[in-house]
Amino acid sequence: MVILVTGGAGYIGSHTSIALLKAGYSVIIADNFCNSRPEMIKKIEQIAKKKVVFYEVDVTVEQAVYQIFSEHQIDGVIHFAGLKAVGESVEKPLEYYSNNIVSTLVLAKICRKFGVDKFVFSSSATVYGDNTVPFVETMDLLPTTNPYGETKAMSERILTDFARANPSFSVSLLRYFNPVGAHESGLIGEISNGIPKNLMPCITQVAKGRLESLRVFGNDFSTADGTGVRDYIHVMDLAEGHVSALEHLTQGVHIYNLGTGKGTSVLELIKAFEIANGISIPYEFVDRRLGDISECYADISKAQCELDWLAKRDIVTMCRDAWRFERNIDE
Ligand code: NAD
Ligand code: UFG
Repeated sequence: MVILVTGGAGYIGSHTSIALLKAGYSVIIADNFCNSRPEMIKKIEQIAKKKVVFYEVDVTVEQAVYQIFSEHQIDGVIHFAGLKAVGESVEKPLEYYSNNIVSTLVLAKICRKFGVDKFVFSSSATVYGDNTVPFVETMDLLPTTNPYGETKAMSERILTDFARANPSFSVSLLRYFNPVGAHESGLIGEISNGIPKNLMPCITQVAKGRLESLRVFGNDFSTADGTGVRDYIHVMDLAEGHVSALEHLTQGVHIYNLGTGKGTSVLELIKAFEIANGISIPYEFVDRRLGDISECYADISKAQCELDWLAKRDIVTMCRDAWRFERNIDE
């Protein structure tokens, strides 16, 4: 089977490309490197010991996507390409709506033209908004307070409506929780452009000595230690979840949470990092960050039951792999 992986040079797409190659799929990557680097393609090939076909294209450009489909017999698409910084989306809403929505529309349209009926979409736990944990796939989606989250909810809706109108179309909407960590080789991982915003990259910056201490946003949430709780998932577990989603894809629309089902607080993650790597992470409490919810973790029973998939790697492994990659990065 040949899978088109849009955004395959990015953080989750690169790890998923490796998992796909390992599972015997052929991979075509389409990426415009707006948030990744060209050397990622070689690293994927190096780790997987297999070649990938690569197109440097913007997947919002219909003609460019058409060309890929006309040059290859594609069996399915995994659509990762998108802009993903929540704060930036508030400042640049048009860029976010245009990139994230138009790419979904273009890909669905070209899939229809070429009769490609398997589609996996990168959604986010952010679509649950401030629901009560654990988040279950059947919950009503709540407003997300930022354009990024809206693009995920809208893309889900577009693909759902498209599947309803085209009964042979099979789509899996995967709602990721908080992906962290890196491939165990230490060759690929999450590259932060500029000052990182997410927790794990901030912790590794403190470990590197680039930041003096970690700012913990709020210690007055209604959680056991007062700090925010999230469902951190190792990026390789997440990658393998995509392979399972593809393998179990049947006609219609299927929504799955990809998380571990376990909530970890900020202080617990700091502690796990210290244990995994023997490095102390100084921190200070500061005000809550605007828009942060107190808890976010998944009900994972649907993915476990229908995809026969369960995240295997624990929080210490996530911290060890994240640090192995970060300390290897060439400056
Ligand atoms: P990333 O930025 O590392 O990867 C996205 C890739 O898509 C990059 O390589 C970028 O260059 C490429 N891209 C963006 N727009 C493009 C376009 N128009 N044409 C071609 N390539 C384009 O992000 P990631 O963390 O790997 O996330 C992948 C997907 O998962 C995104 O859709 C993101 O919204 C979603 N997601 C991520 C997280 C997370 O915490 N990382 C959580 C939930 C959902
Ligand atoms: N945090 C800190 N200090 C930091 C960074 C984060 O205390 O320097 C805290 C946050 O307040 C939160 C937790 O660490 O309690 C996790 O924050 P992240 O920024 O790492 O992740 P979020 O849960 O806020 O958001 C992430 C992605 C979103 C995605 C969401 C899905 O950034 O795109 O997970 O669950 F939608």
